[in-house]
Amino acid sequence: MTAEYKVHGDVAVITLNNPPVNGLGLATRRALVAGLTQAQADAAVKAIVITGAGKAFSGGADITEFGTDKALAEPSLHTAIAAVEQCAKPVIAAIHSVCMGGGLELALGCHYRVAAPGCSVALPEVKLGLLPGAGGTQRLPRVIGVEAALNMIVSGEPVKSEFIAGVPGQKLFDRLAASPESLAEEALAFARSVAEDHAKGGPLPLVRNLPCKHPQGDAYFQFARNMVKGMAKNFPAPAKCVDAVEAATKGKFADGLAAERDLFIQLMWSSESRALRHLFFAERAASKIPDVPADTPLRAINAVAVIGAGTMGGGIAMNFLNAGIPVKMLEMKPEALERGVATIRKNYEAQVAKKKLKQDKYEQRMALLSTTLDYADLKDADLVIEAVFEDIGVKEAVFKQLDAVCKPGAILASNTSTLDVNKIASFTARPQDVVGLHFFSPANVMKLLEVVRGDKTAKDVMATVMVVAKKIKKTAVVSGVCDGFIGNRMIEQYGRQGGFLLDEGCTPAQVDRAIEKFGFAMGPFRMGDLAGNDIGWAIRKRRYVEKPDMKYSKTADLLCERGRFGQKTGAGWYDYLPGKRDAIPNAEVEQMIAEHRQALGITPRKISDEEIVQRLVFSLVNEAAHILEEGIANKASDIDVVYIFGYGFPVHRGGPLNYANEVGLFNVAAAMQRFAQNPLDDANFWQPAPLLARLVAEGKQF
Ligand code: NAI
Repeated sequence: MTAEYKVHGDVAVITLNNPPVNGLGLATRRALVAGLTQAQADAAVKAIVITGAGKAFSGGADITEFGTDKALAEPSLHTAIAAVEQCAKPVIAAIHSVCMGGGLELALGCHYRVAAPGCSVALPEVKLGLLPGAGGTQRLPRVIGVEAALNMIVSGEPVKSEFIAGVPGQKLFDRLAASPESLAEEALAFARSVAEDHAKGGPLPLVRNLPCKHPQGDAYFQFARNMVKGMAKNFPAPAKCVDAVEAATKGKFADGLAAERDLFIQLMWSSESRALRHLFFAERAASKIPDVPADTPLRAINAVAVIGAGTMGGGIAMNFLNAGIPVKMLEMKPEALERGVATIRKNYEAQVAKKKLKQDKYEQRMALLSTTLDYADLKDADLVIEAVFEDIGVKEAVFKQLDAVCKPGAILASNTSTLDVNKIASFTARPQDVVGLHFFSPANVMKLLEVVRGDKTAKDVMATVMVVAKKIKKTAVVSGVCDGFIGNRMIEQYGRQGGFLLDEGCTPAQVDRAIEKFGFAMGPFRMGDLAGNDIGWAIRKRRYVEKPDMKYSKTADLLCERGRFGQKTGAGWYDYLPGKRDAIPNAEVEQMIAEHRQALGITPRKISDEEIVQRLVFSLVNEAAHILEEGIANKASDIDVVYIFGYGFPVHRGGPLNYANEVGLFNVAAAMQRFAQNPLDDANFWQPAPLLARLVAEGKQF
């Protein structure tokens, strides 16, 4: 049953019942319309209340139906709302908890609305690159005014029911119930009173019949357009929301509704909305591990220890303090501890100064932090995260000590970015309790967490750390053990392409500009300067020994030999003024690149932005295909999540593999084969990965 029908005296109550949030999928819409028909046919019923079971009135359309026949199958949401409007008996929405998207549109179709306090009301479609397509852009302005409605529609943010109810002149809610508990009773009483009035004659009130005007419409909508243009560079939806609401203020309701429909369909087929919908599902799917059942018993995590109070350790500790979980930090020397604690303090104080954190919250968080120099103090920790120097010998010493002091069942995690988690696990007698938790810098800010599953990591450890990740507001993706895990293994190929592009004729600024225009937050060279070019240098030095056949541009090494490590030294691929992050191109660097090119006997050529973008992005795609085939990533969408949340890949492109699907894998593979012909590039690398070749042959997508 997706909606229940019950008669209470002379009032029929239709209760949407489609957990978790009463999404308005086809079955629910059918049950709703059937309930309305039944109530109309029953002479004893004088009014109808629509409400929702459980934790929501309704969270809106069922987005799993988007792009399928079910979304359009009758009764569509439009038809269901029309059935409500046309009902000859008064229909009252009894709204509580969550009333969003299609749920709010349904409520706006009702003749009356009674809301419980504390209910979140929103039209969040814009967050999926869409606009409310079932009359929301036409009806909401009629009940709360054009500006308030446009704010809600363009932002997608929820507003509390009691706030709306308190706005003078609002017509969204006819009544605010005293409490969520009394909503059902109050809605029934309200229904009876309007039924009595209705019996005396006169039409039922419809939102569509209310006027919709803005006193300075043209100027206001122009202003709104300018605002959204600045905010939503790569997304068409906010501007179309403005168009739709403007349509509500011009002409007839039916015309406005038709305009909304057209705009909605345009957005539904846009690559930006497809990307956002893909990411919506991808993020939720990332927390599911195929062979770890959802009901796996969890280990309790009430106390955390962090080893190493450096760049990463401090940020990692803050995540747990923010979530109210006590943290003990361990270091080798008291000075290092003091420095680490001071950095945490400084970070919080900056948040307090910016009014992003209240003073008392800051103090509460600091009170959860303790420090020690003694491993014996870690005996009660449920989870230990190691963030010491990236050196296998140091890791060995740390994990041996942890093994000796930690209680049985404690989870022992390493934040290593390059080392073998299986090897680290082997330093203990409990490899099943060891896992990689690869945070990204700054660890208190970046949302991505790569959870590195060792060969022996226990399933309940995996299940537990995925839940812990959610608690500390991270988006966790599982990676198998390999050099660089998912994210850094791919970025190495991207960085290599960046180097070849310099050798062949580009400047760092040209490469950065092209990929930033594509939508990346930062091009490879600005990113190198931010992260520190010495990190890549160290990795390459290792590669020259481990993989002597692998081809690299030497330009980045030449840069590092000059001590140009990036922002931290005030000079890298670009120059930086003290305390500033603006990248200023440097003539000497460009000279250095030109001389190196000359030494290699290369005649520079003009390289198009299109080639730059394709080589950078498709290098990610090819490596991702290897990663997927090797089982390092469980699914293609996990790789997209890594790149969106950890590497600044443009959100409107939905991640590298979603983008490859959009371009068409045939085209992607063809471009790779073209790049393989370039004698200055790496022909071996550009052989399409077997998985990619197979997908192309089968006409499939990632
Ligand atoms: P860091 O050099 O800033 O901090 C390391 C801290 O560990 C120092 O304060 C040091 O005193 C302490 N330490 C060293 N040996 C110790 C021991 N035996 N016992 C206790 N404390 C010890 O290094 P950072 O950047 O924080 O890196 C730490 C780990 O995080 C490394 O494994 C690194 O690969 C990884 N990582 C670093 C990222 C970054 O962007 N910096 C990103 C992701 C991972």
